[in-house]
Amino acid sequence: MKSEISTPLIGYMKQLESEGITDIETIAEHLYDHHTRQIGLGLYSNGRYTQSGSDVQTNVISDANTPAKECILWCINHYLGLNRNQKIIDKVCQAVQEYGTGCGTSALSGGMSKLHKQVEQKLKDLVGKESVLLFPTGYTTNMGCLAALPGKNDLVIFDRESHASLIDGVKLSGKKWISFKHNDLEDLDKKLEKYNKKYENIFVVVESAYSMSGDLAPLKEITELKQKHKFLIYVDEAHTFGFYGKNGAGYCNELGITEQVDFIVATLSKATASIGGFVATKAKYIPLLQWRANTYTFQACLPPGDAAAVLGCLEEIENNPQLVESLHENNRYMREKLTHLGFDLGSSQSPIIPVFIEDKDKLLSFNRELFERGIFSVSIFYPVVKLSEGRIRFILSASHTKEQIDKTVDALYQLAIKHEIFDSAIYPVWQ
Ligand SMILES: Cc1ncc(COP(=O)(O)O)c(C=O)c1O
Repeated sequence: MKSEISTPLIGYMKQLESEGITDIETIAEHLYDHHTRQIGLGLYSNGRYTQSGSDVQTNVISDANTPAKECILWCINHYLGLNRNQKIIDKVCQAVQEYGTGCGTSALSGGMSKLHKQVEQKLKDLVGKESVLLFPTGYTTNMGCLAALPGKNDLVIFDRESHASLIDGVKLSGKKWISFKHNDLEDLDKKLEKYNKKYENIFVVVESAYSMSGDLAPLKEITELKQKHKFLIYVDEAHTFGFYGKNGAGYCNELGITEQVDFIVATLSKATASIGGFVATKAKYIPLLQWRANTYTFQACLPPGDAAAVLGCLEEIENNPQLVESLHENNRYMREKLTHLGFDLGSSQSPIIPVFIEDKDKLLSFNRELFERGIFSVSIFYPVVKLSEGRIRFILSASHTKEQIDKTVDALYQLAIKHEIFDSAIYPVWQ
């Protein structure tokens, strides 16, 4: 029943279960003690919060008894920094004056307003599909759509690194599912070949960019498999919508494959700095989704202020292409520096940079010391990634400055040497 201090909470829970402890009250007590120990040693980065909301540099609070620390933030998905855009904030205030705060009910029960309809229309025109259905969150878009779509004799094949919302949706459907190796076309091809004749329809579920690894999916090649096999493609663009493709229409748009992808989904909480999600697809699927996706049928619409924020962000992305360019430039700049220094960034490409640190004890101390130097990012552990893996993730924003990137890279480098993160064979000679 002893745990290493670096054991992730859910990993520890599995350990307890494997030792025969199944009583949930006993498990909760063990986890509570473990969690308290991690907090006491300053090793728990997931409980930190900002003093006055997300920004690329702001005061961060670790616990109520410690003064706030000014930090550069690398853990927020506001890729374009639009949550701090004054024009958008003014529009949100105006919308709240006009439409009030919450919606009070679901879309099918009268919760939609003209503003929500404008959001759907804007997204439809932007993404280039026949119809769009707006959901209250990205998570419940996936849960609802994937629970609703597979038919009785269908199979879902999803990428092994898929987000929890996709996997929850597939499981909720109660239909057959299997996974394929992450971004592995050959494995997907083999599975399509093997199962094609056994099922009426196969849904292939992937993300355009994976949030824990920062790598892009081979979407063009996946759509090309349609020439060999019959299947439907469902792509979650959470980490590309707003900053890939024309006016931020997404990665499918950038690759010119919008037509071949059957369902394009994205969340509105990241580049578009709000809340909500949508699915863009053929008009024929809309009634089916409205009435079979419980998270649409039975969940209240996103608040009007948030709908106004989405419209404001999309307008800003369209009118100010420099914003997206700054994000990609920051990504190139930080990536080049880290790679040059010898950091292992895996196969990442998108504006998510994972720094892999295998040793969990080192990872926790490393992250705590980064925080002490005014750099805030969270450690990524099981169950978010495999039990054997650990990393610190840096999510770039167009609002990060070169100075903030330099300061962060410098701190990473100093700590990597201190904690002997680099393989001595490729020890960097920079500086
Ligand atoms: C790939 C992916 N899909 C869906 C979601 C859920 O989006 P939201 O948090 O806006 O509900 C996330 C959130 O991190 C995500 O990364």
